[in-house]
Amino acid sequence: MTNNLRSVGIVGLGAFLPQKKITNHDLRKLVDTSDEWILSRTGISERRKVSEQEAASDLGTKAAQRALAAAKVRPEEVDLIIVATVTPDMFFPATACLIQKNLGASNAAAFDLSAACSGFIYALSVASQFITSDMYNTVLVVAAEVMTKIVNWEDRNSCVLFCDGAGAAVLQPVEKGSGFLSFDLGADGRGADFLKLPAGGSRKPTSQETLINKEHFLTMNGNEVFKFAVKIMGDTSVKALEKASLSQDDLDYLVPHQANTRIIEAARKRLGLEAEKVYLNLDKYGNMSGASVPVALTEAVEKGYIQKGNIVLLVAFGAGLTWGSAVIKWAM
Ligand code: ACO
Repeated sequence: MTNNLRSVGIVGLGAFLPQKKITNHDLRKLVDTSDEWILSRTGISERRKVSEQEAASDLGTKAAQRALAAAKVRPEEVDLIIVATVTPDMFFPATACLIQKNLGASNAAAFDLSAACSGFIYALSVASQFITSDMYNTVLVVAAEVMTKIVNWEDRNSCVLFCDGAGAAVLQPVEKGSGFLSFDLGADGRGADFLKLPAGGSRKPTSQETLINKEHFLTMNGNEVFKFAVKIMGDTSVKALEKASLSQDDLDYLVPHQANTRIIEAARKRLGLEAEKVYLNLDKYGNMSGASVPVALTEAVEKGYIQKGNIVLLVAFGAGLTWGSAVIKWAM
């Protein structure tokens, strides 16, 4: 970040997980799978699922309320709300507007951002520009996902992976030299077919045929996503550190997207980081898409693994294909 601009950091975090747990054993009743297969190939033991009535804005509102309370910021003080989601309550209005109403954040502008599992990091980078440029002082970034309503519960390749949750962060100006030190964002649309929701958009509106073909559920080429993820998690992490004029040795803590322990392990080794410096919670929550990073970050901070002054790296990859990483000098 250029020196004469304001420094921006996270001043409050919050997470919310639905109550209902689905274990690997539960999934055996739905598809031909086993606890051993899921655990050894992904690292996931259980995940959370919303009730029929709950949607992304419900989870996002609760995470946001917790983040605002942690930051000691009143809803009316929020200037902008950005919600990263691929499972909005509906196409429009934006889920950010629904959360704005629920919070009573009556002075906030609001919009959604779509970058799948990289969405939270994309949203942090957008939010921080508004503050460094002096346009706003307080931006609320929320990532809320209800993946269990878009997975095909007959597809064992994907239904064992994805689940629900929300995380939120309040961003404000922080002490000079602290907060976000760099971002690295990227996309490769040539991989768009590897992970997508084929129907329901303007390309293929919902019809009887799309419903019969189950094209309103996500489809994934797991092997292709895996190969991409293993390479890009390391590449983008190294780039973000270089942009911050730091080396891998300067890194205190890594909070990666929680998709697969094998993918995270590859990134950890590339960065030469000890296992205890990497936060993992996918065993209990699975892959919550964009919500994975903020939920993991909230837990890591609450457990005291991240302290003021630490150099923290967030990194994610997702549908698009997209990727993003952020280097932060922790300011709280
Ligand atoms: N239970 C049992 N067997 C299974 C299951 C299951 N749940 N799922 C797949 N299999 C079978 C396959 O059918 C295949 O059988 P076959 O050899 O008879 O054809 C066998 O297991 C091996 O399948 P692979 O796909 O080669 O297994 P792999 O080791 O690659 O693991 C996985 C699959 C876990 C999906 C892995 O590829 C992966 O994690 N990919 C990345 C996915 C990801 O992270 N997606 C999220 C992106 S983030 C976002 O934007 C939301």
